[in-house]
Amino acid sequence: MSELIRVAKTFIGYAKRPDLYPELGRKIFKNIFNRKSAFRGKEKTAEWAKSKAVSQEVAIENLFGIKMQNFAEIFPSELQESSQKEKDCPIKMGGAGALELIYYSCEFANAKNAVETGVAYGWSSLAALLSLEKRDGTLYSSDMPYLGQDGDQYVGCIVPEKLKKNWKLFRHADKESLPKIFGENGSFDVVHYDSDKSYEGRTWAYNELYKHLRKGGVFLSDDIGDNSAYQDFCEKNSIETSVVEFEGKFVGLFIK
Ligand SMILES: C[S@@+](CC[C@H](N)C(=O)[O-])C[C@H]1O[C@@H](n2cnc3c(N)ncnc32)[C@H](O)[C@@H]1O
Repeated sequence: MSELIRVAKTFIGYAKRPDLYPELGRKIFKNIFNRKSAFRGKEKTAEWAKSKAVSQEVAIENLFGIKMQNFAEIFPSELQESSQKEKDCPIKMGGAGALELIYYSCEFANAKNAVETGVAYGWSSLAALLSLEKRDGTLYSSDMPYLGQDGDQYVGCIVPEKLKKNWKLFRHADKESLPKIFGENGSFDVVHYDSDKSYEGRTWAYNELYKHLRKGGVFLSDDIGDNSAYQDFCEKNSIETSVVEFEGKFVGLFIK
């Protein structure tokens, strides 16, 4: 599909969804006035993240005192079933991240309530839900519909039916979804950020998520090397964070 058709489809998709008009306005503003925001402070943060980075296994042991087992060992059939669903999905979305980190964060925090931004196929949702279901807990997720690919119905498509009773998916931009989610539940055991990667998007959401994370809960953010928003947020709030290197990218996490 040519880029022009994709842009036109996205625009038409937005036009049909008045609830997404605020995000459309923000995207237009960002593309005209704030194009460099995606990479602000990237160089400084790349060095900082590299100097702190450890493996998932080491972070899980150091922070949570848990010996990590690979997801494929603990949940082989779920992983196989979901991988097949991803292969069968007709549209392309963001792939799986550090699943063990998410799963063990929920285990450590004995999580009953978790919130995540960014779902795509639903790999991070699956990791959180496999822990939350043990306590009959709830995962609140936020993701934009994939308007350019007619992909609305595929967001979260790899999540097994049996886990959906523990899952609430909010289909708006974070700036609309998160206030709705916090309106339903004010305190979370685990928060995971993996959506809008701009400096401003992150900074706004980090502050909101942090406010609603209980003391002793776990904060996670993917792709913290994209710009310096996560490092700046931690430094501003005197947070001592861990950094995990995973498939050439960096994930930040800390216990509040
Ligand atoms: C990297 S993917 C998420 C991957 C997922 N967490 C996982 O590990 O399987 C990023 C997602 O963020 C969503 N997204 C981007 N900007 C957003 C926004 N402003 N509000 C809500 N979702 C957004 C995209 O639609 C995309 O599905």
